[in-house]
Amino acid sequence: MCGIVGYVGGAECVPILIDGLKRLEYRGYDSAGLAIHDGQKIDVVRAVGKLRELERALEQRPLSGQTGIGHTRWATHGSPTEVNAHPHVAGDVAVIHNGIIENHLALRAELEAGGRSFASDTDTEIIAHLVDEELRRDADLEQAVRGALRRVQGAYAIAVTSVREPARLVVAKSASPLVIGLGEGENFCGSDIPALLPYTRRMIVLEDGQMAVLERDGVRLSTLDGASVEPQVRSIDWSPVMAEKEGYKHFMLKEIFEQPRAIEDTLRGRLDREHGDIAGVEFGLTQADAAAIERVVLLACGTSHHAAMIGRYYIEELAGLGASVELASEFRGRDPVVGSGDLVVAISQSGETLDTLMAARLAKGKGARVLAIANVMGSAIPRMADGELYTRAGPEIGVASTKCFTTQVAALLMLAAYIGRRRQVLSPERLGALVEEMARLPHLMRDVLQGTRQLVANLARRYLTARDVLFLGRGLSFPIALEGALKLKEISYVHAEGYAAGEMKHGPIALIDSEVPVLVVVPDDSCRERSMSNLQEAKARGGRIIAVSTEGDDEVGRLADDRIEVPAADPLLSPLLTILPLQLYAYYVADLKGTDVDQPRNLAKTVTVE
Ligand code: G6P
Repeated sequence: MCGIVGYVGGAECVPILIDGLKRLEYRGYDSAGLAIHDGQKIDVVRAVGKLRELERALEQRPLSGQTGIGHTRWATHGSPTEVNAHPHVAGDVAVIHNGIIENHLALRAELEAGGRSFASDTDTEIIAHLVDEELRRDADLEQAVRGALRRVQGAYAIAVTSVREPARLVVAKSASPLVIGLGEGENFCGSDIPALLPYTRRMIVLEDGQMAVLERDGVRLSTLDGASVEPQVRSIDWSPVMAEKEGYKHFMLKEIFEQPRAIEDTLRGRLDREHGDIAGVEFGLTQADAAAIERVVLLACGTSHHAAMIGRYYIEELAGLGASVELASEFRGRDPVVGSGDLVVAISQSGETLDTLMAARLAKGKGARVLAIANVMGSAIPRMADGELYTRAGPEIGVASTKCFTTQVAALLMLAAYIGRRRQVLSPERLGALVEEMARLPHLMRDVLQGTRQLVANLARRYLTARDVLFLGRGLSFPIALEGALKLKEISYVHAEGYAAGEMKHGPIALIDSEVPVLVVVPDDSCRERSMSNLQEAKARGGRIIAVSTEGDDEVGRLADDRIEVPAADPLLSPLLTILPLQLYAYYVADLKGTDVDQPRNLAKTVTVE
């Protein structure tokens, strides 16, 4: 949470920093600020609210310079006010920070006792004071940051500038993400890759415990202890256009419609249609490794957790292995029984979610093999894992995840099929047929999106005033019901419950009356008959039934008030089709209500706090 960006070079840096912050705004949008070195002094402008407020403030107080740092905040310590907005300044130093300094209270007391006074309630201001103290002992900025960080415990990605060193930034990281972009006569830093994409594709992903000095003509990496580090420069193949809206009203809508392409890219080179197998991707697992797996544990948060729930069905059905799904935050709250013999699959769009990262580390520490499924290349979770599989969704900007969810599900399907085949649980014939079905997915998804868009928009309008919405599903459709409800809650602020259809009679049935739309996900699979009974139960209580079902299912058509159809396909693929109208439903409700679809209140896309 929080986005940071920095620039040092020969250009006017304010527009570059603002542009970078726009791309990072999904990480937090409570307040924003810039600190710009004009060669003589550092000027700071900050504003409460979204970036446009900062832009307005800059119209009143323009800044100019060729070295600068910028920040967009998701408040943790201290309410979202201007004094708590970053950058924080102490003496000659300005700092931006993403993360949490755990020992800030003790450090603050100590610094105050030494005569320092604080302007904000933040943990970050501590860092500015500590660096300034070191500078006053005649350290240069690099030494000063190193000295300050020795005293600090917690998670941080920071960028620091000093009045004394006009053309230099010092950055450092522990737990929170930080990327360095390499330009010609200019260098950049940012919280993630898309922030820097318009300027360079050559990036260094900083590791925990590393820091770097950025100057116009070079970047020097070292550990916090001062040992120099040889940088590993990556060439990023995402294009800057992928982080633009391309004519769509919102990123979320664009990302919903990008899903056929995202799935195509995620499957590309990984489906061997000639031999009917999963190929070109090993997941860090040899045949012997696959055979030795005794159990699979899937770890994730939020939407990725719903993908993990679908993954469990796939692993059980295709790989014949026991599988459990864990909310990463809860897994960490126990002393979980996990160890060698377990394959732990950590699923995370950002690859940075702190709970997922820590849970995966816990499992690894207990001897489990960790496989990461992530979207952001070089992010923390794949870096710590024994094997990784990248979804190739491209940058996801909308805070509510859509294309990353479906690509995660596709990745899990490939993983389960891969393991199943190597354990000889899954027959070559079944796998061959599945591979053919998967190859059809982009085409089927396009059909669903085009075919249901208008109908779903109409339904959203019709049920716009509903205060509660119920989503029901069984089997593979249960996580889809949860995800449909989460999408609606996240972006439209309508109360929604996702429930296992069979559990409805144990509680949520009490919510149903003629005012409550009930979205029943009932594709043609082995759960259909039982879901139909639940649909009837909801209807008998006066619920307005919107069914998401397989094309030509006339029985559903007769019972439901409204029907959204998806094409017939292998039942294992159904979640990838039925989720699409539910994403659209949430989108249209939110858009009609006029909420901030891409940046819903209180949320942030990458959650690096516990
Ligand atoms: C946040 C986002 C969700 C996301 C979750 C997990 O809450 O708003 O969209 O599903 O984090 O994120 P991850 O990056 O680990 O998938």
